[in-house]
Amino acid sequence: MVESPPPLPPRSVADSKVEMTEIVFPNDANPLGNVMGGRVMQWIDICAAVAAGRHARTPVVTASVDRIDFHNPVPVGGVVVLLASVNYAGRSSMEVGVKVWQEDRATGDRRHVVSAYLTFVSLDPASKAPRPVPPVAPETDDERRRFEAAKARRAQRLAGRA
Ligand SMILES: CC(C)(COP(=O)(O)OP(=O)(O)OC[C@H]1O[C@@H](n2cnc3c(N)ncnc32)[C@H](O)[C@@H]1OP(=O)(O)O)[C@@H](O)C(=O)NCCC(=O)NCCS
Repeated sequence: MVESPPPLPPRSVADSKVEMTEIVFPNDANPLGNVMGGRVMQWIDICAAVAAGRHARTPVVTASVDRIDFHNPVPVGGVVVLLASVNYAGRSSMEVGVKVWQEDRATGDRRHVVSAYLTFVSLDPASKAPRPVPPVAPETDDERRRFEAAKARRAQRLAGRA
């Protein structure tokens, strides 16, 4: 009889949080002089992948990206701040939430630009098969709220894929 491995100890949300900062260069811009959506999506994917990898401590791949809404344009020269955290973990998959802000250089005020939810899957480095991840241990009210909302979104995704 093959014994199943012991459950992994939970990991806190703080353990995998990522803040990433970019400046919009001309090479990132569309003809209107604002950052291209595709470039922001790339930054979101990278920021979220680092958070998922910190949670799983394994290689991770992007499995899916939920709807992304671009609320405000960011001009060339703008400072873009991305914040990513793991909201919920299933067996081998994790939902990562990313919030993107434009930071005003003079005041430090931040304006919300984009939010996105992405699902990453942890892979075993040798077999490349999905590998279990630790559960998320939410600690604050916000983390618990995000945890419950992510759990509900996961159920919707699974129902949609079925
Ligand atoms: C993501 C991938 C590893 C899933 O492999 P799979 O053989 O379908 O794995 P399983 O059916 O066993 O599912 C594994 C987990 O992934 C989740 N999953 C699979 N496809 C998914 C999707 N499209 N969206 C969200 N979650 C998904 C499953 O729900 C499951 O979650 P759980 O373990 O937490 O319950 C595989 O489809 C893949 O390699 N895709 C390409 C990834 C890639 O190249 N990304 C871009 C570059 S990083």
